[in-house]
Amino acid sequence: MQEKLKQMQGAAAEEIALCATLADLEQIRVKYLGKKGELTAILKMMGGLSAEERPVMGKVANDVREAIESGLEGASARLKEQEQAARLRTEQIDVTLPGQEVQLGHLHPLNLVLNEIKEIFLGMGYRIAEGPEVDTVFHNFDALNSPKDHPSRSTSDTFYITEDILLRTHTSTMQIRTMKQNKPPMRYISTGRCFRFDEVDATHSPMFHQVEGFVVDKGITMADLKGTLNLFAQRLFGSATQTKFRPHYFPFTEPSAEVDVTCFKCGGTGCRVCKGSGWIEILGCGMIHPNVLEECGIDPNEYSGFAFGMGLDRITMLKYEIDDIRHLFENDIRFIRQF
Ligand code: PHE
Repeated sequence: MQEKLKQMQGAAAEEIALCATLADLEQIRVKYLGKKGELTAILKMMGGLSAEERPVMGKVANDVREAIESGLEGASARLKEQEQAARLRTEQIDVTLPGQEVQLGHLHPLNLVLNEIKEIFLGMGYRIAEGPEVDTVFHNFDALNSPKDHPSRSTSDTFYITEDILLRTHTSTMQIRTMKQNKPPMRYISTGRCFRFDEVDATHSPMFHQVEGFVVDKGITMADLKGTLNLFAQRLFGSATQTKFRPHYFPFTEPSAEVDVTCFKCGGTGCRVCKGSGWIEILGCGMIHPNVLEECGIDPNEYSGFAFGMGLDRITMLKYEIDDIRHLFENDIRFIRQF
């Protein structure tokens, strides 16, 4: 038995010395010292020994156990150290390397101008209405008094999804949606993307942005429209700005006008921004057509209103002297950062 114990000690020592991982080491411990381990098995046989033999063998067995335990302990410390050293080698950080610069975002020029426009109208008591870019022929044309044969309805101008559903060609859809859902008095602006079948060039994009505005109340006249847009132009382009209303035609307003402002760059003497004319066209507007009010359940004998719509991209380009609309949609951070 003594022989066996000594052999076991030697074998265990050899295995421990060769062991390369903590997991293997644990298996060695279980193999010898575990409940069903080899040493444990021998200790269990001690009961069968004589009274003289027992203490002698007991001591040898204890020595062997202690030897294996201390071998395991030593190996465990050695392996832990090795594992840590390996980790330190692979997880090394060079704290002297320069850090990575954090790239901060920047508001897009369209949002900068849109925020200004919203501020101006919110300050005049307008609310903001939001609506879908995919809308119906009814909201985009029919309810806006657009003649059935109006060229803007054709498939060469408008993106249709089905016969009745399209990508809105202007934000005037929101006049209809908002008027149908609310009762006068109403003062709203609404902004968003619009789509038209246009070839891309420096001033055209099949996707662009509009800001729509309208007011409905008792006794609203063209004078209210002029006063509102004058104030708006002065807030956006500077207090010296003047406006000019040119007669125009829209199916959904009567009378209709296009509005020019004196060039904010040269003050009206003529320059590159206004192409020498001193004036810049910024929007379309007019008194809401009685047919449109009626379609939305508002009695045109009791109420009247005005509406206007402007191209946000065009105004942004003028304000920041951006010469190509494509810059607005390429999202090059080097471009966007300049504003
Ligand atoms: N919807 C018109 C356009 O896209 C602009 C407009 C809006 C005109 C409201 C009058 C009233 O050109």
